[in-house]
Amino acid sequence: MSKIRTAFFCQQCGYESAKWNGKCPSCGQWNTFVEERVQKDIPGKQHDWKNNDGGNGRTQKIVNLSEVVTNEEKRLLTPDNELNRVLGGGIVAGSLVLVGGEPGIGKSTLFLQNALQLKQIKTLYISGEESEQQIKMRADRIKNTNDQFYLLTETSTQTIFAEIKKLQPQLVIVDSIQTLHTPLIESAPGSVSQIRETTAELQRFAKESNTPVFLIGHITKDGSIAGPKVLEHMVDTVLQFEGDQHYAYRILRTIKNRFGSTAELGIYEMTGTGLRQVTNPSEILISQRDDLLSGVAIAATMEGLRPLLVEVQALVTQSVYGTPQRTATGFDLRRLQLLLAVLEKRGGFHFGVKDVFLNIAGGIRVEDPAIDLAVLCALLSSYEDNAIANKICFAGEVGLSGEIRAVNRIEQRIAEAEKLGFHKIFISRYNKKGIDLSKFNIEVVPVGRVEEVYQQLF
Ligand code: TYD
Ligand code: MG
Repeated sequence: MSKIRTAFFCQQCGYESAKWNGKCPSCGQWNTFVEERVQKDIPGKQHDWKNNDGGNGRTQKIVNLSEVVTNEEKRLLTPDNELNRVLGGGIVAGSLVLVGGEPGIGKSTLFLQNALQLKQIKTLYISGEESEQQIKMRADRIKNTNDQFYLLTETSTQTIFAEIKKLQPQLVIVDSIQTLHTPLIESAPGSVSQIRETTAELQRFAKESNTPVFLIGHITKDGSIAGPKVLEHMVDTVLQFEGDQHYAYRILRTIKNRFGSTAELGIYEMTGTGLRQVTNPSEILISQRDDLLSGVAIAATMEGLRPLLVEVQALVTQSVYGTPQRTATGFDLRRLQLLLAVLEKRGGFHFGVKDVFLNIAGGIRVEDPAIDLAVLCALLSSYEDNAIANKICFAGEVGLSGEIRAVNRIEQRIAEAEKLGFHKIFISRYNKKGIDLSKFNIEVVPVGRVEEVYQQLF
């Protein structure tokens, strides 16, 4: 009888080690190693290349690329355009898609809803988290019925594959990968080796049967897909579902996609009856108000390939403690500190004695550097307690010496601002080259330095 092999795995990044380590040599985290039993070695299979049948009984391995038939055209379109878009134009046959997100963000709702709407194919929804009754209740809430929708509450992959063989579904959704376990491995469900092995089994199933499989996975606090960062390279597509739980908006982002661009993004709103696609996000993210308030500036940002106008709110107050506070929601705190330093040094504003709070409205998080200029103007507006006039927006990155730098896709940003009825947009003067301003009905103000913006605004 062969001995059971155990190994230590970092629960953070999946690094495998023969002995326990205090600090993971791969990701640098402390105290993350857990001993797990791994699959027993199959003797004689490994390094003998002469007598190796490859393990799966296939005789011919090498093929000529020109003889390979693609099934690219066989993309399955779901009724959800946002999902189709992030997948690069529909679901690819035989693809394995990992969807990550924090607990409670709406992953189960999104995929249950989509599966219920996909009436033309047989869908199997495997849940290891909720009972049939709970899922039925949720489906009732979403108000969708579908007689091609099948449910399996099971966590063992052996049973799952047996059921799949009987049902022959055309789409499989697994909620969640952390609850599955394979009898081949003896460690607990959710551990790195279990997740890796169950995903590998599902991957083989997806490729061999040409059935698309969606895996739902929970994300840890620091944003990595719990432990299984290891999963990201095994799957074809990685989507991330994010948003602030206290707000209704959710963003579905592509992190990796073998079949399309990673710049795509879908926007949803969580309602009482499931998730609703948001087709005009800018209109919702900008609050419509009549009176002007200081500390508010509108940024023309890009989320992926879509222009998105967001509202930046700043509050600058006299600091009551020795160390002034800086808080940023939806924006990088270090970037805020940097912009404050630029204002202090290049503009002579005394933010050093002020508390500064910054918020991006709508609970979304913006990474686009083009938001800098709006952040800066919101800070100045609050500092001066002087509101920025209505219907003005900004698109520009701010450099360390106070220069306004060019940003990408400026024409798309200007067009979006114009579409939403803005009268004026401030852009970098380095962006002006090569764009035809005459086609826009909106006033485009090119600026080169922070001081110029200040003079124009206040
Ligand atoms: P859920 O899909 O269970 O999240 P996840 O699978 O990512 O953990 O959804 C979580 C939240 O969504 C839950 O707190 C309730 C809310 N919700 C709605 O607001 N409306 C709905 O129609 C549904 C089904 C859920
Ligand atoms: Mg869930």
